Amino acid sequence: MSPRRVLKVRPMGIGDLPGVQVIERASFSTPWPAHAYRQELETNRLAHYLVATLDRAIVAYGGIWIMVDEAHITTFAVHPGFRRRGIGERLLIGLLDLSIARMAREATLEVRLSNLAARRLYEKYGFRPVGIRPRYYSDDGEDALIMTTPELTSPGIQETIAELRAALDARPAPSPTADASDIADAMVPDDVPADADAADADAAETSGART
Ligand SMILES: CC(C)(COP(=O)(O)OP(=O)(O)OC[C@H]1O[C@@H](n2cnc3c(N)ncnc32)[C@H](O)[C@@H]1OP(=O)(O)O)[C@@H](O)C(=O)NCCC(=O)NCCS
Repeated sequence: MSPRRVLKVRPMGIGDLPGVQVIERASFSTPWPAHAYRQELETNRLAHYLVATLDRAIVAYGGIWIMVDEAHITTFAVHPGFRRRGIGERLLIGLLDLSIARMAREATLEVRLSNLAARRLYEKYGFRPVGIRPRYYSDDGEDALIMTTPELTSPGIQETIAELRAALDARPAPSPTADASDIADAMVPDDVPADADAADADAAETSGART
């Protein structure tokens, strides 16, 4: 009998960057280079990045900047071979938990208008469209939809998160699809510490959110 698979969400560390890059390149038309993530982790004290691991392989990652009382989701992706298995939800709950723990009043993000998968995910967790940023994406000039949660302490969103968390807890751990063969490249130790609060809050090369 094969051992039970374990999905975990934990802070991203520098040692995770090769695994993050595998997913980054498979997920975005203008991927951030590894050194942009390194700079985020090492110098941006507003930034908090998480990875989701399945049996120690990195299968997803996401980040937020906590700016005063707003949590801005900067990036978010699941390995293509592990999508539609609730991993995006697990990671989003991790980011929302972090936002609430850091006293953020609301969470917000930009998403491509055409990115229906991401929009549905965010809607499921209470994000609602609040505006458009015209030609936000520099590669093709697509507009961004701005989506924002209600107050994170409001009973409605707390109940939504609690119900969805319970539903995920009742599901079996995810299995990969056939196109997850590159995931072995992402294998890293599971206990890499993240030290995002360490240094100065210089502007990162990422120069803003990309979600
Ligand atoms: C968007 C993304 C993160 C979703 O991750 P995921 O692990 O596949 O999502 P989950 O399995 O947790 O899905 C949760 C919900 O999201 C929505 N969703 C996810 N994929 C969807 C799809 N292909 N079509 C429609 N809805 C989808 C659904 O509401 C789903 O809930 P349901 O299972 O009850 O229908 C993933 O597709 C991805 O990494 N895309 C590329 C990178 C990206 O677009 N990042 C977001 C930038 S803003």
